[in-house]
Order: sequence, then C-alpha cells, then structure tokens
Amino acid sequence: MSALLADVAELKAAYDRQGWCRIPVRLDTDSVEHLRRRIDLLCEQDRPDVVREKESGAVRGIHGCHAYDDLCAALVRHPLLLGLAEELVGGPVYAYQFKVNLKQAREGAAWPWHQDFAFWHEEDGMPQDRAVNIAVPLDDVHAGNGPLVLIPGTHRLGLLDLPQREEQGERERGDWRSHVSADLAYTISGGRAEQLGRELGRQTLLGPAGTVHAFHPSIVHASSNNSSADRRALLLITYNAVDNAPARPTRPTFLVSRDTEAITPEADPRLGVEVPAVGATAGP
Ligand code: SIN
Ligand code: MN
Repeated sequence: MSALLADVAELKAAYDRQGWCRIPVRLDTDSVEHLRRRIDLLCEQDRPDVVREKESGAVRGIHGCHAYDDLCAALVRHPLLLGLAEELVGGPVYAYQFKVNLKQAREGAAWPWHQDFAFWHEEDGMPQDRAVNIAVPLDDVHAGNGPLVLIPGTHRLGLLDLPQREEQGERERGDWRSHVSADLAYTISGGRAEQLGRELGRQTLLGPAGTVHAFHPSIVHASSNNSSADRRALLLITYNAVDNAPARPTRPTFLVSRDTEAITPEADPRLGVEVPAVGATAGP
C-alpha cells in the first residue's frame, strides 16, 4: 500500500460504515491535465463506447477506454488507486469497468437514484457486491455542475426496488443503452430515495479535479443535470474482486471487461499524486 495512505485502516472503517470515503491524496494538476486532454481526444472518435445525450447529442460518456488507451491503462495500474481498491475489497482485483461521465456544461443530463450493483448483478451476473468504485473528477466539482450525491449506509440494505422479471420488457433488459443513459433500467423510486435521504442524510462528493473518492457498488446515489457553465467530467474505475467475476457476461466488453486477471501495480511518471494542503480535504 502506498506510504501516502498511512491511515488505510481508518479509510476502510469509514468505507465499511458509510459506503464511501474520501482519500487524503489526489492526482496532481499535470496528471489531471494529461488525462483530460487524452479523454477529449478519445471522445472525438466515432466509437460505440462513446455515448451521447439523447436530446443534445453531446458526449455523455466514454466506456472501457482502458482497454485501448495507454494512459487510461496506466491509471488502472496506479499503485495508489489499485492498492486502495485491494484494501477496500479485501484481495486482488481487476478492472471491471472504466468510464468517464462527461456532464457537459448546460447539457449534461442527470443520473437518477440507483445502485450500480443492480446492473452488475441483474445484467452481468456478478455474484456479490465485492467491488469498489474509485471516482476521480477531471474538472472541479461544485454544487452547480451535477455532483454525485450518495445516501450513506444504503450499501447495507441489499438491492432495492428491483423490477419483477415479467414487468421488465425485453427491450430494456437487453439494451445496454438503458444502463448508461438518463433513462436508467434500474432505479430507486423517488419516494424511497426521499425517505432514505431523510433518515440517513445525503453526502455530496465535491472537490477540485484530481480528488479521489471511493464508493460501494450497493450505495444509493444520483446526480442532477448540469445547469452550470462548467463541465463536470468524472472518471470512474470499478475494481472487482478476481473471485467475484461474472461467469458469462453478455454486455459489450466496453461495459464488462472479460480480462479478469489480477492487476499488478505499476507507477507511471505521467500520473503523479499530491497531498493537498492541510484544510483542503474534509474527512471521510
Ligand atoms: C455521474 O456521473 O454523476 C453518475 C455516476 C454513477 O452513477 O456512477
Ligand atoms: Mn452509478
């Protein structure tokens, strides 16, 4: 584990209790700039994994680019991120998903309340929620550009509001586009999210570009439209335990990696980290 994360046991305890934690180390400015430029270039490509907003046609997200882009692949192997994921999951991991959700200024559409594990379990057959999302914004995230909002503690409630199989149309079930659009296939009802938020509170993930948060596959979360003048690009790596890989996934490989071998850490000089000045990080 990186020497920069001296209190990893404390982070794990916070993660287990709340379903999320903030890491007291972030990607430095040059690394973020490098990644931002690379993602911008990849988004110009005409690829099935570059997903667009239904209304505006603006790029909403790019998926699975760690499989073909060297910088994204290097980020997945970053000793800090990988070591953190191994600690939080409790063993060797592989990259199940890699995506960047680009909430374009004034155009980026919401993500309704949902649990990621609903998609991974129901669609891919991931056995258990022994995975972790590592979230790194490539733009500064503020209250106005559609930050991620989590309901702490909901990772312990199991899967909520799953549709009955017979109610679920074939169109939705087989169509991966309803897993990456604003019309998600598996959502938590507004009433339930409201009630859970009242009982358990809400946590908004804010911070400068490069900030690192971890959140649990079963935590209830959402984010609103970006009505501001600032883009909000959020890079998300999902690391899954190697012994928790789905047996026969059918979704495209850019949504579900078929390479389930344990990743080994490798430092890359293009991807540095820094410890923010005291006072710049809120505790988990
Ligand atoms: C978002 O990009 O705001 C949503 C991310 C997620 O649901 O994992
Ligand atoms: Mn999600």
